[in-house]
Amino acid sequence: MSEAVALIVAAGRGERLGSDGPKAFVVCGGRPMLDWSIDAFRAAGVTRIVVALPAGYDAPEGCIGVPGGVQRSHSVRAALEAAGDSLDVVLVHDAARPLVTARIVRDCLAALTADVDAAIAAAPVADTVKEADGYDVVRTLDRARLWAVQTPQVFRAEALRDVLAQDDAILAAATDDASLVEARGGRVLVVPSPRDNFKVTTPEDLQLAELVLASRA
Ligand code: CTP
Ligand code: MG
Repeated sequence: MSEAVALIVAAGRGERLGSDGPKAFVVCGGRPMLDWSIDAFRAAGVTRIVVALPAGYDAPEGCIGVPGGVQRSHSVRAALEAAGDSLDVVLVHDAARPLVTARIVRDCLAALTADVDAAIAAAPVADTVKEADGYDVVRTLDRARLWAVQTPQVFRAEALRDVLAQDDAILAAATDDASLVEARGGRVLVVPSPRDNFKVTTPEDLQLAELVLASRA
């Protein structure tokens, strides 16, 4: 089996963060947010890293850079294509999750056993979740079965390539890459991950990420 390849998507604009430049390059804990994820992957032994980039930005040292696409799924596809043909296992990760650790990366890789198509980091849901039609509550979901999904998401390269070959409309409707594999009947496992591997979306998230990084230092 060939070495696992990480595809880090960093091409988003970060509109909800409202920073001057793209979110992945916003400074967090003293360095571009993207750099924290690269460190975590390398610490887990994943050294082949492809980064989908916003226009005008270069890949960090030792990584392969590729221009990102209009939507996140296009960026994933571009990174997968740039990774080449001879790969078995790919990890997809959002640069917007700088708090990922080597432990999480390793746990996801270890969960991808022979009969599994994808293994995805996820945290048990802490809140009670209700489904509503507008504001009318329809039902209360069984919290013990709910997981808040994160990245990294680890795939058999073939399974990811297959689902990303679908129409743009299908890709646009999917909220994560693993859901496309599920929709095709693939076997997807959740891998328990701490809640603090959250996605930096708003300025408040950025402040919280800074605090967590400072507490780890
Ligand atoms: N992403 C990407 N290409 C896109 C859109 C998103 O590579 N066309 C990446 C982002 O860089 C981020 C991850 O996908 O690392 C998750 O997306 P999100 O948190 O939505 O980031 P942005 O799209 O940058 O933020 P916003 O939606 O607020 O503009
Ligand atoms: Mg976005």
